[in-house]
Amino acid sequence: MLAQASLRSLQRDPLGELARRRAEQGDLATFALGRQRILLLSTPGLVENAFVRHGDEVGKRGRARRWWVRRPPAFVRGELFETHDPAEHARARRTFAPAFNRRRAEAAALPIADILERSCDERAGRGGEFDLTVFVQELLLAGMLAAAFGVEIGLEEAERFVALRNRAAPATAPVFGSTGAGLVDVVAHPGSWLGSRKAALALRSVLSDYLGRADSLHETLARAAPRDPVRLIEGLVFSLVDAPSIVVAGLLRLGEQPELGAALRAEVTDGRRGLCRGTALEGLRLGAGWMLGRVCHEPFVLEDVPVEAGDWLLASPHLIHRDERFWPDAERLDPARWEPDAVAARSRYTFLTFGVSNRICTGRHLVTTLATETVAALTQSGLALATDARTIAWHGAPMGGDVVPSAPVEARL
Ligand code: HEM
Repeated sequence: MLAQASLRSLQRDPLGELARRRAEQGDLATFALGRQRILLLSTPGLVENAFVRHGDEVGKRGRARRWWVRRPPAFVRGELFETHDPAEHARARRTFAPAFNRRRAEAAALPIADILERSCDERAGRGGEFDLTVFVQELLLAGMLAAAFGVEIGLEEAERFVALRNRAAPATAPVFGSTGAGLVDVVAHPGSWLGSRKAALALRSVLSDYLGRADSLHETLARAAPRDPVRLIEGLVFSLVDAPSIVVAGLLRLGEQPELGAALRAEVTDGRRGLCRGTALEGLRLGAGWMLGRVCHEPFVLEDVPVEAGDWLLASPHLIHRDERFWPDAERLDPARWEPDAVAARSRYTFLTFGVSNRICTGRHLVTTLATETVAALTQSGLALATDARTIAWHGAPMGGDVVPSAPVEARL
């Protein structure tokens, strides 16, 4: 008899629930949510085995067995990145990959640095304390719009967007039933969901305005999704704006390592970025999402455990990135982990922030540049934390795979 998880506890604390399953059952834990079978993989080797070697037997999305009804699994035939059709998926990647390749992302560093510097100056000019998580959301939005679309927005416009986005989040979450990413709490909070519908509609009109102003990428988006390019830009922008933890988790630790803070300040004064990049990658490691998922399409065997069609396979980047077996002294921010020799010495599946294999995030180079420039801009502006990092815990956001800090992170410039 399979151990049962409750939807309520998964919604309330998904990260805690996965950590408990791992502690109780080890690296390959199996449990059920109603009729839905879930396998939790907690080593880079298991992730490689299931997500990469058995890549043809698993898919990214797809409504698995609905957990509350007795029915065979059904797979949704979506389009672009949501499809299960390999040819359609390859077409989507071919359309997008060149727009976000490493060379373009590195070339975007200058325009990003420029807009972030202006936003930080404006923020510093106002004085007083602010919530660093929200400010980082604003910086990431402004940086991405400038880099990918050639659209420049000021701090006030970024603030309006992020406030709307944070109100709209529940309504734009993926529907429950793909690979656990959308454990939407509609039933428990119908009021907040209705309010967020209104904010989501308002956001669509702001995004369509950005699309109209875009001097780059517009054509790619319109070609890739002629019926609804706004939905596509929505997905790209939200995946960034909803994940400020990838920067905040690193910055919080800087408060405990004053010597690293001093080295970063010296580096940005010289215009170099090596340490900022290592610090940003550590933030990407420590602030990674709570889950990465696949759904099984064809049965296979994973270390003697049969995996059936419709099963969910979950890995937790957040937990694997804190596992001392793969990241010694895991909680410590150490930019040296990202020097080429150190990277070459470990399995690539120890770092799962951007996913794996043919589904790996196409925006990863841009995101790394954005995170690096955000660390540089905040260092240059004299970021000082007013919140003690030890008071902050991380929670899995039930609506997506991201993690969020348990309290506001107060800061000054
Ligand atoms: C904080 C920032 C971001 C994080 C942490 C992130 C992470 C991820 C992850 C974990 C996946 C799934 C990979 C898998 O299942 O193996 C993904 C997919 C994807 N990401 Fe990102 N992402 C971010 C921002 C972006 C941005 C800014 C863009 C576009 C500019 C983008 C474009 C995509 C696309 C198109 C996919 C689908 C790839 C596919 O299914 O083939 N992401 N991302």
